[in-house]
Amino acid sequence: VAIHVVNGPNLNLLGRREPQTYGSLTLADIEQRLNDRATARGGVALTFRQSNSEGDLVTFIQEAGIAGAGIILNAAAYTHTSIALRDAIKSVDALAIEVHLSNVHAREDFRHHSTIAAVAIGVICGFGAASYDLAFDALVPILEKRDS
Ligand code: DQA
Repeated sequence: VAIHVVNGPNLNLLGRREPQTYGSLTLADIEQRLNDRATARGGVALTFRQSNSEGDLVTFIQEAGIAGAGIILNAAAYTHTSIALRDAIKSVDALAIEVHLSNVHAREDFRHHSTIAAVAIGVICGFGAASYDLAFDALVPILEKRDS
């Protein structure tokens, strides 16, 4: 099975960006954790993509969906505003899990709403880098079942 890990705006700055909220790991560190997990699990191909631009993220989602890859998606601030990302998931029937490092529900009101959650399989937030690991563990069996 294949999984695309898609990260949105400002997540390229993880490690130096508001570490009290997002932790001290860099995006490369998070990717390394997932690579280790995939190696231990076997049979999972990971692709990592990040952009600060909404349009790029639309393209990444389309490409993942068309390739039949599942998506671990941290759309960052676009989570709260983007109809285009929601439509992209729907357009290609992508199997996506929405993730956030922080517990968005414990933060400002404008982070409580997601345009994406309703078209995602589910949402994992508040566990730091482990949010991605939990999404990986949830998504792999769903993709294996679909492909069997
Ligand atoms: C985030 C939460 C968003 O509200 C915020 O805009 C981000 C990061 C998270 O991973 O906790 O950029 O998606």
